[in-house]
Amino acid sequence: MKKVIKLFVLGGALVLLAACENDKFEEELPVVKDNVSFALDIQPILNVQCAGCHNPAANVEPDLREDFAYSSLMEGDEEGIIPGDSEGSELVEMLEWNSEDGNNMPKATPLSPLNIALIRKWIDEGALNN
Ligand code: HEC
Repeated sequence: MKKVIKLFVLGGALVLLAACENDKFEEELPVVKDNVSFALDIQPILNVQCAGCHNPAANVEPDLREDFAYSSLMEGDEEGIIPGDSEGSELVEMLEWNSEDGNNMPKATPLSPLNIALIRKWIDEGALNN
């Protein structure tokens, strides 16, 4: 019986270890549809996952609220979106919890692989305000 418990503990530790693996999104991202829309697909993710912190009242930039997110994300190069190149976009590193500056976003829990895949696709399709 004790052996079984030990196995469970070891198994749990391995699962946790695997969950901490940084590159975990790279192979697992689901395939998403073409023609991802910023307004219909991306902004709703930002509303739920980001805008609660990223707004002027909280004084956190970029402002990711509806009607502000697109321009604040595309302004300057600080936010690191390279249209057509999600692989090279710093924002994607942050969302995949792979940020060199330790700026993994959202801060508490990563986005779902589906949401990350949608954002990557949107960037690869040119990061349009569509
Ligand atoms: C719990 C609050 C919180 C949530 C949720 C959150 N952020 Fe942030 N974010 C911050 C704070 C605070 C900063 C300022 C830098 C820091 O303290 O790490 C920041 C910084 C950033 C930056 C700028 C990084 C830089 O290089 O200056 C970007 C881009 C960003 N967040 C994107 C996002 C996106 C996209 C989401 C949602 C998927 C998100 N954040 C969710 C709190 C949050």
